[in-house]
Amino acid sequence: MVRYFLLLLIILSVLVIGMAGLRDYSFLPHRTSRPPIEIFPDMVRQDKVKAQAPSSFFADGRGARAPIPGTVPIGYHSPGTPDSAVMGGTYDVVLFSGNADYANTGKLGTNWGNGLPFAATPATLQRGQERYQIQCAVCHGATGAGNGIATKYGLVGVANLNQQRLRDMSDGEIYNTIVNGKNTMLGYGANIQAPDRWAIVAYIRALQRSQYATIADVPADQRALLTGTNPTTLIKP
Ligand code: HEC
Repeated sequence: MVRYFLLLLIILSVLVIGMAGLRDYSFLPHRTSRPPIEIFPDMVRQDKVKAQAPSSFFADGRGARAPIPGTVPIGYHSPGTPDSAVMGGTYDVVLFSGNADYANTGKLGTNWGNGLPFAATPATLQRGQERYQIQCAVCHGATGAGNGIATKYGLVGVANLNQQRLRDMSDGEIYNTIVNGKNTMLGYGANIQAPDRWAIVAYIRALQRSQYATIADVPADQRALLTGTNPTTLIKP
């Protein structure tokens, strides 16, 4: 009894392996071009999109997807293209005696440089404010005081961007901090493109200036507003 069972098992094994296990029958004298019988789907056929292959999954029939408008794929570099309003349309024309490196590194030769590598416009500051509020304010706070919401949940040691040391710091070094981080702050270079980094630097300068502003910085015709009891009248006169 056991003997028949073993025999049957061996015959079955050979059959199953012969049919399911081998992909092609090239060892047979008569080769066949027919696809092999697949009892279990072979691994070469999988439910996935191969590069550049069509796909019926998407309405346009293409497997490869175009980037979603307004997004930047990680690792993708498109110098000078985003939002020309940020750069006054002049990002490609680097103002510093043609030193294109400065725009990307913040360095002039071996030293940190100062100044934006393109002409700043009001749109630059607006863009910088928006990007700052998205990328930096969670930690550094809306005014740069280092009191963002993350500090209420236990993050310690966030720098106050208005301190004298950072007011004195060159633009290039701040730019580099955005790209590569510093000490316990991680770098944000992968999330923020070069023109936007410069726009953030410009906005930080505006924040720093605002924290040390005197009455002389307020346009003469608006000084009267400062005497009002409601400071919000300053924001929307
Ligand atoms: C997740 C929290 C976090 C975010 C987001 C963040 N920072 Fe920081 N940042 C820190 C911390 C923490 C430090 C202090 C690092 C240290 O010196 O240990 C710091 C320090 C700095 C410094 C001072 C570096 C120095 O030399 O002392 C600058 C400038 C700065 N951040 C700019 C930015 C800008 C600009 C952004 C937005 C692009 C940003 N940070 C986003 C946490 C953050």
